[in-house]
Amino acid sequence: MSPNASSVQVSFLLGVLAVFIAWIYSELLEYRRSSLHSKVSYWDGYQFNMEKSSSSSDPVENVDWISKLPDDVLLMILLRLSTEEAIRTGLVSKRWEHVWKHMSHLVLDMRKKITRSNNTLHVSNQVATLITKIIKNHRGHLESCIIDHYTNGMLNTWIQSLTSVKQTKHLTLRHHLDPTNNGEFIEFPPNSYQGLTSLSLFSYFFATSTSHHCFNNCQNLKTLKLSCILARDVGVFNRILASCISLKVLVLHINCLEKSGPLKIENKRLQLLKVSFCDKIDGIQVSSPNLHILALEEIFSCRRDDFVLNSPRLKFNRNFWLTGTYLPHISYNISQEENCVGHKEIVVNNTCCDMLRARNPACLSVSVDLMSPREVERFRQVLNLWTFEMVELEILFKDNNAPREEGESSPKKENNNDHLFFNAGFRVVTVWMHNFSGSEEEFALASCLIRQRKVVKNMMIKTTSFHARKKLEIETAVAKLQALQTKDQWELTIKCF
Ligand SMILES: *[C@@H]1O[C@H](CO)[C@@H](O)[C@H](O)[C@H]1NC(C)=O
Ligand SMILES: *[C@@H]1O[C@H](CO)[C@@H](O)[C@H](O)[C@H]1NC(C)=O
Ligand SMILES: *[C@@H]1O[C@H](CO)[C@@H](O)[C@H](O)[C@H]1NC(C)=O
Ligand SMILES: *[C@@H]1O[C@H](CO)[C@@H](O)[C@H](O)[C@H]1NC(C)=O
Repeated sequence: MSPNASSVQVSFLLGVLAVFIAWIYSELLEYRRSSLHSKVSYWDGYQFNMEKSSSSSDPVENVDWISKLPDDVLLMILLRLSTEEAIRTGLVSKRWEHVWKHMSHLVLDMRKKITRSNNTLHVSNQVATLITKIIKNHRGHLESCIIDHYTNGMLNTWIQSLTSVKQTKHLTLRHHLDPTNNGEFIEFPPNSYQGLTSLSLFSYFFATSTSHHCFNNCQNLKTLKLSCILARDVGVFNRILASCISLKVLVLHINCLEKSGPLKIENKRLQLLKVSFCDKIDGIQVSSPNLHILALEEIFSCRRDDFVLNSPRLKFNRNFWLTGTYLPHISYNISQEENCVGHKEIVVNNTCCDMLRARNPACLSVSVDLMSPREVERFRQVLNLWTFEMVELEILFKDNNAPREEGESSPKKENNNDHLFFNAGFRVVTVWMHNFSGSEEEFALASCLIRQRKVVKNMMIKTTSFHARKKLEIETAVAKLQALQTKDQWELTIKCF
């Protein structure tokens, strides 16, 4: 290679590096803020805990008492500690030496061991070796593992032993910029993630057009979260998604170096899709028949016409683009299914919590069958994610005559208990209700919104178009709702449209 060509290459890479680092850095700040709570327990505080136990008045007796407990009880105690605390218990007493090796979840965070003041190659290698040892010495089943790392040569070895030797199912990898040097790109070899059920990646660059090969043999992957992932072109992402045929949950926060066509999401089993900030991507085409939860945030670069959604379960009237202010929007067609991975993902795993912020409040479109206790409960749980004012709530009432699932009965009256339904802080500026049939359940919900002053400005009602007699009933119901409005609710308009 001529010196000229290589210097062109170097300056190109430096340019890419600068863009990437600036982007990742801004995301990192946001990420740190949002994950502050979950982090404090990881490798912190072990000294405090250890000091406490060693300064206890009668250490010998304590150790003796503990040493009589069976392994699984000790393990239960360890599960309450961070990975580092747990491992350190092995240094204190022989009885604890091997117990940590049976923990099913490990969190390995290089940042806790390397700081600006002691960041030398030597220290970095020491810490990497320590992590290698921990993984190697672990016995038994390791269900899930989280690794926070700086750039280092051991990462791929760790992944390899986790996926192939330990048969780990859930893996989270987060790449952090080194305190002094700025890190290098990491290439993952083919088949890196084989056998995993869920994978979460933070801050990597898929630099070549064959980078997607690390996703070979990912047929079992059900959850994939790509945060702050940069690729050379959108084709890399398209090939990754095409090879993950079992995906049910997909979270994307991605960016490309060059504009290179639309992002294609055609995963047949997909239930939940969350997309934020897809820059340098010419549109998004979604064709997933089972998709029933769609969360869009900050996709300013994607125009309405460039977002093609072909999902029979997401036929809502309101969307991200309609409010005019690009507020984050969640569309949720609540499912009857007993095990809905998508629902657990937002309610239990808080997948959308980062887009529910008071300063940029998200809107919700929901389709619910008020006759199904399960759907009503899910509706309540989702509303409970909002602890501040919601801008728009669109409700589509499902056909109440749909067949019930076995074991489901009509909701009992006490389940419709007003106070339990909305949390204290919940308010919504505008409510759109479609298919309002004036049924007892729909009326109860609407009247509760008014009486508890949950709806602030507009309640817009679109009735179903039945024959004349039914229509009259519905109009009577709407008139009754209007009559609930009190004088001090002067801001509120209740009307049909
Ligand atoms: C580097 O410094 C930090 C903070 O003082 C310390 O916790 C860590 O143990 C040190 N790392 C090594 C390998 O000595
Ligand atoms: C919700 O899903 C059902 C099928 O489960 C479908 O019939 C209905 O049209 C969907 N509603 C919306 C608003 O897409
Ligand atoms: C929540 O996330 C954890 C770890 O990422 C995963 O193991 C678990 O399956 C998720 N839960 C659901 C209900 O998806
Ligand atoms: C519910 O409303 C939507 C949109 O207004 C409409 O497309 C759909 O046909 C209605 N469904 C029923 C069962 O009336």
